[in-house]
Amino acid sequence: MSLEPTVLAFETSCDETAVAVVRGTQVLSNVLASQVDLHARFGGVVPEVAARAHVESIRALTHRALQEAAIHPANLDGVAATQGPGLIGSLLVGFAFAKSTAWARQLPFVGVDHMEGHLMAPRLDDAAFEPPAVVLLASGGHSQIVHVRSWGDYEVLGQTIDDAAGEAFDKLARFMGLGYPGGPEIDRHAEDGDPTTVDFPRALKDRPFDLSFSGLKTSVVTFIEKAQESGTLPALADVAASVQEAIVDSLIEKTMNAVEHTGVERVAGGGGVLANTRLRLKLTAACNAKGVGLSIPDPILCTDNGAMIGVAGAHWLSEGQYTSWAANAEPGMRLG
Ligand code: KG4
Ligand code: ZN
Repeated sequence: MSLEPTVLAFETSCDETAVAVVRGTQVLSNVLASQVDLHARFGGVVPEVAARAHVESIRALTHRALQEAAIHPANLDGVAATQGPGLIGSLLVGFAFAKSTAWARQLPFVGVDHMEGHLMAPRLDDAAFEPPAVVLLASGGHSQIVHVRSWGDYEVLGQTIDDAAGEAFDKLARFMGLGYPGGPEIDRHAEDGDPTTVDFPRALKDRPFDLSFSGLKTSVVTFIEKAQESGTLPALADVAASVQEAIVDSLIEKTMNAVEHTGVERVAGGGGVLANTRLRLKLTAACNAKGVGLSIPDPILCTDNGAMIGVAGAHWLSEGQYTSWAANAEPGMRLG
């Protein structure tokens, strides 16, 4: 296997059908069919609807990915797909389609942990990004602070004990009457807001690496209800900025605690929440102040995409690690 294999990669763990062609750490194509409009009226992802939509778009999307990359299937070195974690119906579509494609072409196949995809995505913008590092993974389903000793050697130092950071953004946005998904909505509304307007709580001060957002949720709901009653509700932009600040500060504090604890000289980030403007700005400042490097990919590579599965797949294929044809999708897959 070449050191920089050309890999066709699939990501269908949730509500985006995503296909990419990656050569080593280089993105040759990265296409996506978003289902956001399908799920928006339900205020969240409907698993059955998601699985059906993946089935409908995956074949045409695969053609587009190969066409945009100008790669004939005969020139592929392998196929990769998200194996888990995620919604079983959604995962099965991409995993089975990818395995069949690999089988038909007699290509090596590798199943990738979705979170390892987020964790390796910084390599797509920074090929030199290598462990050891502390990686902040924050998405709609997960929030983890991971000590990456080497590729494949992951110690999850801390994680959320209740909601994931993205879930907190989504739930709070919904309560504030904003659209779905909530993260980008709060990000946008917070742009003109003052983050010091309301001092919402930063939880779990006594646990250095763990996160919790349920207390924040209660606090925001109580604040808004009381302020509405008394007619003292601040502007939406100011509330959005204050909510965002509380989530961002917690994520950064716990990440920097992990840097201090491990002594690593590099921080990286992945997952949809790392697309957040304020988080990117404040994490950059925190890393600069500490004198450690920071690798966060372009926002488009932070949210779910096929290229992150491709870069992880290419890594494992170049190491000669393949997944058995008998393997199946694993909705409960865990890092480490
Ligand atoms: O990684 P991702 O695309 O899918 C999962 O694996 O869950 O993450 C989606 C999450 C959603 O909760 C969404 O609200 C959040 O990432 N998100 C953001 C932003 N963009 C996406 N949160 C805050 N600010 C953003 N700009
Ligand atoms: Zn994700």
